[in-house]
Amino acid sequence: MYFRKLDVLQKTAEEITTQTGNKVQAIQCDVRDPQAVAACVDQLVELAGLPDVIINNAAGNFVSPSERLSANAWRTITDIVLNGTAYVTLEVGKRLIQEGKGAAFLAITTIYAESGSGFVVPSAAAKSGVETLCKSLAAEWGRYGMRFNVIQPGPIKTKGAFSRLDPTGQFEKSMIGRIPAGRLGTPGEIANLAAYLVSDYASWVSGAVIRMDGGEYVSMAGEFNELRKVTPEQWAVMEAMIRGTKGSS
Ligand code: HXC
Repeated sequence: MYFRKLDVLQKTAEEITTQTGNKVQAIQCDVRDPQAVAACVDQLVELAGLPDVIINNAAGNFVSPSERLSANAWRTITDIVLNGTAYVTLEVGKRLIQEGKGAAFLAITTIYAESGSGFVVPSAAAKSGVETLCKSLAAEWGRYGMRFNVIQPGPIKTKGAFSRLDPTGQFEKSMIGRIPAGRLGTPGEIANLAAYLVSDYASWVSGAVIRMDGGEYVSMAGEFNELRKVTPEQWAVMEAMIRGTKGSS
């Protein structure tokens, strides 16, 4: 079974209630099991009615050379990430259509859903699938008043992710080195963008995939970005050489 531990969910629910005064109900569910998803949505509807906001954030991931992956390892990750998102979206979406109610869907993917990435291939493939699912349903179900958007975060330090993606801690420094903002992201920063995208302030935003990574993606992609290592003294020498070049052959 794959789900957040109920005691963790309940502690978080209590924290939110203490900080905001809002009532929060934690329900545990294995997103890989469509029947469990249906039962979870039944409970939700009983407690609070159909939702206005649905956030698909479930992730499973570990770094591994792909030649070491078994079929079950592949299935475990893609079941959580892609199938879990599909089961939740289909279950809630069908009920919304039946009741004539709109809603804002938001999925959390990753910057390598766009580029692909070695060593996390099941996660990359599944997260790309989630993005395609959201873009497709933004087109198909927009007429029912549903919006679908995606946030692609860069690295945000949490124990669940970093203990499986950087178990020795040796890659954290190099990650920070290639992020122009000079640091990892924080959960609060994702929460700010998520709150905006699911709110009525974003009522005309649908089918959007928004990257938030402190500039990491473009920093890794640009051919000449390594020139940031050049010092002002070196630039003086290089500029003289460049200006001194005559002709093209
Ligand atoms: C190779 C592995 C493996 C590893 C598990 N498997 N770990 N194979 N290397 N390190 C294989 C197992 O051998 C097994 O296959 C299959 O995967 C299922 O493993 P289980 O341990 O039985 O699965 P389960 O207990 O369900 O654990 C799920 C999990 C785990 C996904 C494997 O890592 C987990 O619980 N993760 C928690 C959530 C998480 O990962 N959060 C981080 C997401 S962050 P066999 O064939 O042996 O049966 C993210 C974005 C990153 O994704 C963005 C960064 C920029």
